[in-house]
Formats: sequence, structure tokens, C-alpha cells
Amino acid sequence: MLPLMRYLAGAGRSSRIRFRPRFFSLAAPVLVLAAGATGGIEGCAFNPGQPGQVGTSTCMGCHDGRSAPDMRRFHDSAHRRISCETCHGPGYEHVRTGGRGGLFIDNPAREPFARQADACAQCHSATVDGFNRTTHAAAQAASCHDCHDVHREGGMRRGRGGPAGNRIEAIAETCGSCHGVQTAQFMDSGHAQVGVATCASCHDAHRADMFTADPIDNSLCLQCHGSRFLGFDTAANVDFHTGPFHSVDPAGSGASRCVACHMPPLEQAGQPHGPHDHTMMTFPPEASNQLMEEGILPVPPNSCAGIAGCHDATVPGSGAPYDVNDPRDNRFLQEIYETIGELP
Ligand code: HEC
Ligand code: HEC
Ligand code: HEC
Ligand code: HEC
Ligand code: HEC
Ligand code: HEC
Ligand code: HEC
Ligand code: HEC
Repeated sequence: MLPLMRYLAGAGRSSRIRFRPRFFSLAAPVLVLAAGATGGIEGCAFNPGQPGQVGTSTCMGCHDGRSAPDMRRFHDSAHRRISCETCHGPGYEHVRTGGRGGLFIDNPAREPFARQADACAQCHSATVDGFNRTTHAAAQAASCHDCHDVHREGGMRRGRGGPAGNRIEAIAETCGSCHGVQTAQFMDSGHAQVGVATCASCHDAHRADMFTADPIDNSLCLQCHGSRFLGFDTAANVDFHTGPFHSVDPAGSGASRCVACHMPPLEQAGQPHGPHDHTMMTFPPEASNQLMEEGILPVPPNSCAGIAGCHDATVPGSGAPYDVNDPRDNRFLQEIYETIGELP
């Protein structure tokens, strides 16, 4: 609903930017040549010779907050050596008309979704390619500028910027503007409280699967927990931790898969789309019984039962079937659960 509304709003207003100065079309081949000649970030420096460009200091003459939106923060951003017009296109006509109504200037956020990352692709083409394969892109749910404010130190859309800013919070607040459930749980986790991980430690917003490593074979968690210091440096240590019946076989049966026990789904239906628990705390089987007594239906899964692929009586091919809707099954599992989870 929200992304759709934003998309429609953007499409409605983008018609304005068709009124470009007439010489812009003449300049187009020059721009294509310039872009073609540049490969990486370094080659993308501002070329002041391009027609219709007036230079950043002219933009700042108005965009200092007095007569136009304040962009002075740009001088602290990672993009400060790039001219405004690299992303916004030549500004001559915009300036000549006094900027009124924000006319005659490109604004990537007002382009149709599929073209919003074009300005970024000039320099971050691999990142844009990766992003284009994510669910965010496919669902037109979030584009670069939903997560990034490129005019800002640190480059994130939300949270406090600057050296005093907390990067973990800035990233969590940015994601949290759309993913409230996961973010609130994450902020309660040891990961956030001790300040050892952010959303971006596990999720790469510029990779097709949106993970920094594979959650199936445990490498997602073991990229940190696989150290001797955190205990899981050998398969034997994982085996010790996951107790009886869960010998190491993460990619196969999933019996020793960190995510299955530590991030169980919180609802029985629609598990592939979550929500999955982001506190990282395991959820004991008796908790399902308590919630059942409180009248919460369908009964929420726990770290053992009610999870497709683990102990779920309703899904063929799961491990030994125990029904999360049956209090006796949950009480039985609770006894086994209590023998699991010792740190090596
Ligand atoms: C003469 C003053 C002036 C100058 C110089 C100026 N702008 Fe603006 N600009 C404005 C005003 C005023 C607005 C806001 C209009 C509004 O909010 O309705 C604006 C709006 C914008 C917007 C938002 C457009 C949108 O879609 O809402 C962008 C982007 C922008 N300017 C970029 C630039 C760039 C890049 C330069 C330099 C090439 C520049 N401006 C120079 C006055 C100026
Ligand atoms: C790296 C690319 C990039 C550069 C460089 C850049 N911008 Fe932007 N700008 C964007 C994008 C993307 C948006 C739309 C998302 C947003 O609002 O942040 C935008 C939005 C804006 C807006 C409208 C947002 C608002 O707060 O009203 C203004 C005004 C603006 N830019 C001015 C400038 C000025 C002035 C400069 C140079 C000092 C500049 N930009 C440099 C990419 C860029
Ligand atoms: C003209 C080249 C150019 C364009 C166009 C460009 N960038 Fe960048 N970007 C850079 C450079 C250079 C850096 C700094 C890299 C470094 O410091 O290692 C950077 C850094 C970043 C960072 C890291 C910010 C930080 O503070 O660490 C983000 C995020 C980013 N860019 C996003 C974008 C987005 C989104 C767009 C499109 C709206 C965009 N960039 C367009 C050149 C560009
Ligand atoms: C869903 C949110 C999200 C979207 C969408 C997104 N990013 Fe990012 N991006 C992040 C986060 C979070 C980081 C910070 C990672 C860190 O600091 O560890 C980041 C970091 C970056 C960086 C700096 C680090 C690096 O990988 O070089 C660049 C450049 C960047 N993003 C560009 C882009 C561009 C271009 C797009 C659009 C094609 C985009 N991002 C879309 C969340 C997002
Ligand atoms: C502007 C809103 C918005 C922002 C900001 C945002 N997301 Fe999303 N995200 C969505 C929507 C909407 C979906 C669901 C898309 C669908 O499945 O249709 C989604 C889906 C996801 C998924 C599931 C992907 C899948 O393949 O099932 C993950 C993981 C995710 N987002 C992580 C993040 C992270 C991490 C951040 C911050 C770096 C972030 N998102 C920022 C809107 C957003
Ligand atoms: C970026 C590194 C990193 C990643 C990735 C990571 N962790 Fe952690 N995790 C840590 C560190 C460091 C600690 C120890 C924090 C402390 O000192 O209490 C920790 C603590 C924990 C704790 C104890 C939390 C508490 O509340 O006391 C659990 C449980 C946990 N991690 C599970 C996981 C799982 C499951 C995954 C994979 C889905 C994972 N972690 C991925 C670094 C990481
Ligand atoms: C320690 C690793 C880790 C961290 C940190 C983490 N996630 Fe996740 N996230 C995962 C895993 C693993 C899944 C997939 C769970 C599954 O499908 O079994 C996931 C799934 C998701 C999904 C898809 C819906 C769902 O709940 O299954 C969203 C959205 C999401 N995460 C957002 C976030 C946001 C926002 C943050 C930061 C506030 C964050 N994640 C931090 C590991 C992590
Ligand atoms: C079969 C289920 C299961 C699997 C698989 C599993 N764990 Fe655990 N884990 C537990 C239980 C149960 C606890 C104890 C929770 C408690 O005491 O509240 C625990 C505790 C922990 C703790 C300590 C938390 C604290 O509060 O001190 C960490 C860290 C941890 N697990 C990491 C991992 C990692 C990393 C993996 C994957 C290699 C993993 N676990 C796989 C069930 C599991």
C-alpha cells in the first residue's frame, strides 16, 4: 500500500521534469560519452565543462536553508567531492527560474521506481546490479534513497548523523521505518545492547538473497560465532551445544541450524515471510502452552515445534512430529529442550 502510494505520487510529479532546457537534448550525447569513459568511483569526478551546469557553489547560494531546502549537510557527506549536478543533472534552467516549485531539475526520488537508481549506477554499478535482484527491488518496496540520504554524513536516511551518531541505531532506525517488529526485537537483543551487530551484519541490501552469508549452513552466524572466543569453532562444539538428537548437519536436515532454534517464526502461517524472532532468544515449548492458555490462536510456534522443517505435525517430512497445538507434546518437548543450549 505505502510503496504503491509513493510510486504513484512519484509518477504523477515526474512529468514535470520533462520540461528540460532545450539544449539538454544536445548535451545528452556528451553525457553518454562521459559516462562511458568512466568505470569505477574514481573516474566519476565532476566535469564542470558540461553545458547547462552551474556548479555546486551556485546551488548552495540558495540551498542554505534561507530560500530553498537546506543542503549544507552535504559538505560532511561522502559525496562532498561530487557536484550536485552529477546526480541532479544540469541546473541552469532551475537556477534561472529561481528554483520555484523545484522545477527544471532532476530528482531521482520522483522518477518511476525502475529508474531511481540510475543516478547511482554512474559510480556504484555493481551495487545497483545486486540491489536490482533483491525482493526490495522486485516488490518496488524500497529504493536506494529510502535507506540512504546521500547528502549526509554516514549516508543513512534515519538516526543521528555525524561522529556522535550511533551506526547500529542509524541502520536499525532506517530499516525500522518499515520493519517495526524485527527492529524492536533486534533492539532488545544482546547483539544491539552490547553493540556487536547491526541489521547489516546479517542482511546485505545489495545482494540477491539479502544475506551477508548463508543462513542455511550456519555460516551467517558462524562468521562471528565461529571463533574460539565465542565457542563454535568446531563441529564438535556445535554438536555439544545442540544436545541430543541434533548432530551437526545444518545444510541437510537443519537439525543444528542456529536460525531454527534462535529465530523461530512467531506465527504458524506464512513462515517464509516471517516475522521471525530477532531477539535471538530461544522460545521454550512451554511458552506455546502459556500463550494457548491466554487464548492466543493459532498457537505461536516455539524453538522446537510448529516450525516447518523442524517438529511440525502438519508438515510431511519434518523431524519427529510433535503438534504445537497439543499441550502434552509441548510438555514432552520442554524436557528435552532443557538439556539443550549449553555453551561449549
Ligand atoms: C535561485 C535559488 C536556487 C538555486 C541557485 C538552486 N535552487 Fe534548487 N530549489 C530552489 C527552490 C526555491 C526549491 C524548492 C521549491 C519547493 O520546495 O517548492 C528548489 C528545489 C530543488 C530540488 C527539489 C526538486 C523537487 O523535485 O522537489 C532540487 C533537487 C534542487 N533544488 C537542486 C538544485 C541544484 C542541484 C542546484 C544547483 C544546480 C540548485 N537546486 C540551485 C531554489 C534554488
Ligand atoms: C550522489 C547523488 C546526489 C548528489 C551529489 C546530490 N544529490 Fe540531492 N538528491 C539526490 C537524491 C537521490 C535525492 C532524492 C532523495 C532525497 O531526498 O534524499 C535528492 C534530493 C534532493 C533535494 C530534495 C530533497 C529535499 O530535502 O527537499 C534537494 C533540494 C537536493 N537533493 C539538492 C542537492 C544539492 C543542492 C546538492 C549539492 C550540494 C545535491 N542535492 C547533491 C542525490 C544527490
Ligand atoms: C559521481 C560518482 C558517484 C555517484 C553518482 C554516487 N556516488 Fe555514492 N559514493 C561515491 C564516492 C566517491 C563515495 C565515497 C567512497 C569512499 O569514501 O570510499 C560514495 C559513497 C557512498 C555511500 C557510503 C556513504 C558513507 O558515508 O560511507 C553510499 C551509501 C552511497 N555512496 C550511495 C549512493 C547513492 C544511493 C547514489 C545515487 C543516489 C550514489 N551514491 C551516487 C561516488 C558516487
Ligand atoms: C534496504 C536498505 C538499503 C537499500 C534499498 C540500499 N542500501 Fe545501500 N546500504 C544499506 C546499509 C544498511 C548500508 C551500510 C552497511 C554498513 O555500514 O555495514 C549500505 C551501504 C551502502 C554503501 C557503502 C558500502 C558499500 O557497500 O560500498 C553504498 C555505496 C550503498 N549502500 C549504495 C546503495 C545503492 C546505490 C543503492 C540502490 C541501488 C542502495 N545502496 C540501496 C542499506 C540499503
Ligand atoms: C521503505 C520501506 C522499507 C525499508 C526502509 C526497508 N524495507 Fe525491507 N522490505 C520492505 C517490504 C515492503 C518488504 C516485503 C517485500 C515483499 O515481500 O513483497 C521487505 C522485505 C524485506 C526482507 C525479506 C526479503 C525476502 O526475500 O523475503 C528483508 C530481509 C528485509 N526487507 C530487510 C531489510 C533491511 C535489513 C532493511 C534496512 C537496511 C530494510 N529491509 C529496509 C520495505 C522496506
Ligand atoms: C557480526 C557478528 C555476529 C553475527 C553475524 C552474529 N552474532 Fe550473535 N553475538 C555476537 C557477539 C560478539 C556476541 C556476544 C555479545 C556479548 O558479549 O554478550 C553475540 C551474542 C549472541 C547471543 C547471546 C545474546 C544474549 O542476549 O546474550 C546469541 C543467542 C547469538 N549471538 C546468536 C546468534 C545467531 C543465532 C546468529 C545468526 C543468525 C548470530 N548470533 C550472528 C556476534 C555476532
Ligand atoms: C544475527 C543475524 C540477523 C540480524 C542482526 C538481523 N536479522 Fe533479519 N533475519 C535474519 C535471518 C536469519 C532471517 C530469516 C529467518 C528465516 O527465514 O528463518 C531474517 C529475516 C528478516 C526479515 C524477513 C521477515 C522475517 O521476519 O522473516 C526482515 C524484514 C528482517 N530480517 C529485517 C531485519 C532488520 C530490520 C534488522 C535490524 C533491525 C535485522 N533483520 C537484523 C537474521 C538477522
Ligand atoms: C537445537 C536448538 C539450538 C540450536 C540448533 C542452536 N542453539 Fe544456541 N541455544 C539453544 C538453547 C536452548 C540455548 C539456551 C537458552 C537459554 O538459556 O535461555 C542456547 C543458547 C545459546 C547462546 C547463549 C545465549 C546466552 O544467553 O548466553 C548462544 C551464543 C547460542 N546459543 C548460539 C548458537 C549458535 C551460534 C548456533 C548455531 C551454530 C546455535 N546456538 C544453535 C538452542 C539451540
